[in-house]
Amino acid sequence: MPIKEIKIKIVEYNSIKELNQEDKALINSAKIATDTAYSPYSNFSVGAAVLLENGEIITGNNQENAAYPSGLCAERVALFYANSKFPNIAVKSIAIVAKNNNKFNSIPVPPCGACRQVMLETEMRFKKPIKVILFGEKKIQIINKVTDLLPLDFTSDFF
Ligand code: THU
Repeated sequence: MPIKEIKIKIVEYNSIKELNQEDKALINSAKIATDTAYSPYSNFSVGAAVLLENGEIITGNNQENAAYPSGLCAERVALFYANSKFPNIAVKSIAIVAKNNNKFNSIPVPPCGACRQVMLETEMRFKKPIKVILFGEKKIQIINKVTDLLPLDFTSDFF
């Protein structure tokens, strides 16, 4: 019986100082976005910053609701807004940052499954890999394409 193994590459850094200027700036924008998250139920504020090929940075944060499923994650708020404002501009990278009760997480917080699916759609739409930057105070992880975060991905190729 054939067994397939899937390998993904995650590049890890111990400090933001090790990153290039572009990635540092994107993390900073995501950090600022956490300040205006609406997260009274979880007290977990997530910020996402999307860098477009034209140099624009679009940010978003999580928006919660008393009817829990009606809220939306930071990544999707940012990506949907980026795609609605600049429908023809590819996304180059996305930085994700989270704050728990006003303190930035020490380890990186990976995006939820639904956000991965939306990130994948954007990657497929523009046929360009999106760099995913996950920030933690003690560790930063960089994944060079969304398909690495979602192996056996479901796309419109199936129908
Ligand atoms: N959240 C995000 O914004 N992004 C993720 O990828 C994971 C979870 C938000 C949703 C909710 O407002 C809070 O974090 C707790 O789940």
